[in-house]
Amino acid sequence: MFRTHHCGQLRITDVNKTITLSGWVAKRRDFGGLTFVDLRDRYGITQLSFNEEVNADLIQHARQLGREFVIKIEGLVTERSNKNSKIPTGDIEIVVHSLQVLNVSLTPPFTIEENTDGGDDIRMQYRYLDLRREPVRNNLILRHQVAKHVRQYLDQLDFIEVETPVLIKSTPEGARDFVVPSRMNPGQFYALPQSPQTFKQLLMVSGFDKYYQIVKCFRDEDLRADRQPEFTQIDCELSFVEQEDILRIFEGLVQHLFSQVKGVEIVQLPRITYDEAMTWYGNDKPDIRFEMKFNYLTELTKGKNFPVFDAAETVLGICATGCATYTRKQLDELTEWVKRPQIGAKGLVYVFCQADGTFKSSVDKFYTQEDLAEWAKVCNAQPGDLLLLLSGDTKKVQKQMSELRLEMGERLGYRDKTVFKALWVLDFPLLERDEESGRWHAMHHPFTSPKPSDIPLLDTNPGDIKANAYDLVINGVEIGGGSIRIFDKQLQAKMFKTLGFTDEEARYQFGFLMNAFEYGAPPHGGIALGFDRLCSLFGGADSIRDFIAFPKNNQGRDMMIDAPSTIHSQQLNELGINLLGN
Ligand code: AMO
Repeated sequence: MFRTHHCGQLRITDVNKTITLSGWVAKRRDFGGLTFVDLRDRYGITQLSFNEEVNADLIQHARQLGREFVIKIEGLVTERSNKNSKIPTGDIEIVVHSLQVLNVSLTPPFTIEENTDGGDDIRMQYRYLDLRREPVRNNLILRHQVAKHVRQYLDQLDFIEVETPVLIKSTPEGARDFVVPSRMNPGQFYALPQSPQTFKQLLMVSGFDKYYQIVKCFRDEDLRADRQPEFTQIDCELSFVEQEDILRIFEGLVQHLFSQVKGVEIVQLPRITYDEAMTWYGNDKPDIRFEMKFNYLTELTKGKNFPVFDAAETVLGICATGCATYTRKQLDELTEWVKRPQIGAKGLVYVFCQADGTFKSSVDKFYTQEDLAEWAKVCNAQPGDLLLLLSGDTKKVQKQMSELRLEMGERLGYRDKTVFKALWVLDFPLLERDEESGRWHAMHHPFTSPKPSDIPLLDTNPGDIKANAYDLVINGVEIGGGSIRIFDKQLQAKMFKTLGFTDEEARYQFGFLMNAFEYGAPPHGGIALGFDRLCSLFGGADSIRDFIAFPKNNQGRDMMIDAPSTIHSQQLNELGINLLGN
């Protein structure tokens, strides 16, 4: 028998029990005639003690133990004289009677402790060692908990989990596909699914009614903290539903998960439209843990001979509460911050709302105290506050101000990771125009249905059409998105046409779906939540990487197995691929 207990289990009430433990040597400390070993397993750490006076041979043996050796011990649970209140087993130690080395270990390339000395690259390369660290292990345990509660909630609502294939034909979700060559069909390729979108719609045609899947998706796109080339979705689809049904069911899922996993009760989610989100926050995934809404000062700032504002399509202001204490240096630094290429503002105008009720601004030359008082009133600023203004083309300045708002929220401590604010963003535009090609693209995907009253606009003003599409946003992160689908073959064909597909192209790429729609497709809709993002949100982290057992780095590489890699020319030949292209 390897163990009677695990390393996180024994307590003061177990004193005098003879036990067996197995695990990894986390640390060894030698003092005179005493040696202590911290023994670690998945559940925790237990202190082992070896005493020269009790057993001289054994302590010699123990002193040869290196870090990460795998050992089995038998011993007596004893009350510690020097208790450690930081760990659950800290009241006891094991006086060891017998020690067996089950396996030796090389010295690990970084310390396997809560705070490690290992850099990112080395920890990625030795991911299996990094996973021994408690915080990383806890992230995966959290992931397991979230998955369990997702299944529990959806199961209780009669959803059925169905697996869909991974070797498929391209699905249009807006990123590039990863492709897999087919040996048996030379010159032909599978695509890995960017999502199971078309399959889940086919399952609705098949009558499955309520489908879900916790599923891997693959997207060849630029990577960021919240994007991995392979990631996991909680993917769902329902028949005979309207948008309201979906919002209600998945609001329930969010509430269930927060309550079960975090012990946090989430009230009913506010709903705002895409247009409102852009107007007030300049962002379709607003962080509503704090207000700091945009104020439109365009009219008030015009005609006072300040050329920058006079020339601007839009002048926006936000109020930074209590920031009138900012120094010149801080404001210069903030100005440089908005002028960085990533933000791209030309400059920043500021107004101090001083304690005595007067104003001091960077544009005092052009504006009177009364003018500034008007701005302050519109921005609901109080003495002690700071107004920050940006100007320019409406869309651009909204985007820039959104970045500045988030930065000020961060600096003011409003973006607390232990506070959760979720909302629905509704009524997304159906289409967006590609500036370069002038072509229309589906903002969500081509199966999203337009609002019925907007359908006639397909022929006249496609850009004005709103979709039955919704996003779930939590703390400024897009956690999920979905839509009510087109289920009418004619409308779907028209949509493909608007997107610039010829009939042949549409038939080549989506013929199977169009055919299926000939056989009684029910009205349906769905949503997919980013599972990794949800886990990192629950774990209070910005990056999804630490919630994935074996993630890729920012170049899309798996540093541990060293993938992607070249393959043997024989394998290429078998696949009918000639890399030289001749
Ligand atoms: P969408 O493309 O919005 O919708 O994806 C749904 C959610 O998946 C997450 N996500 C990602 N997470 C990590 N890394 C990525 N590269 C990545 N890309 C997306 C996001 C996102 O909100 N088929 C539709 C859903 C539907 O209409 O039902 C879809 O895939 O959290």
